[in-house]
Amino acid sequence: MQFYMQYFLFAATVWGVIAMTLLLIAWWCAHQRYCNWHRRLMLFLTIGAWLFILSYMFRYYMTDSGAPAIPKQLILWFAIHGTIGIFSLISVTLLVWSRVGQGKWFGSLHQHLNRHHVIYGRVLVVVWTLTHIGGIANYYLLN
Ligand code: HEM
Repeated sequence: MQFYMQYFLFAATVWGVIAMTLLLIAWWCAHQRYCNWHRRLMLFLTIGAWLFILSYMFRYYMTDSGAPAIPKQLILWFAIHGTIGIFSLISVTLLVWSRVGQGKWFGSLHQHLNRHHVIYGRVLVVVWTLTHIGGIANYYLLN
């Protein structure tokens, strides 16, 4: 338990750096039309992001003393960072779903996202990268 708490922030930062690098590689692959690699990387990163957020939430259940303390002056920053993070995660999941799924449910949304994949994708790559930079900055802010 103690081990998990102690090393979570470090592991989260390492994941942030790896995920951000892979995201930029995935973008480059898409740009070069190496579609198979782009697909693989996006699937890996999206599943990885969900596992990361689950392990983050798990941390809150593991402490006897409640949630890890966040300094008062950083609360607004964490609220902004968390909101942008959740927005990226849900949007990216929808984009993956529209590419990988058959479009049996919510057909018009599925079609819309697929038709505008490149523009939504470009915006999300930027937002997601900024989220990772924020996550990496948290390591220094909380240390
Ligand atoms: C596993 C799911 C995905 C598949 C199969 C996929 C597939 C593709 C394909 C085939 C292209 C080439 C252009 C086109 O045909 O529309 C492309 C472009 C692109 N995708 Fe994806 N994609 C996936 C997920 C994502 C996600 C989640 C993002 C954003 C976070 C993203 C960002 C982009 C961008 C930015 C481009 C355009 C690259 C450029 O020319 O600048 N893709 N994708």
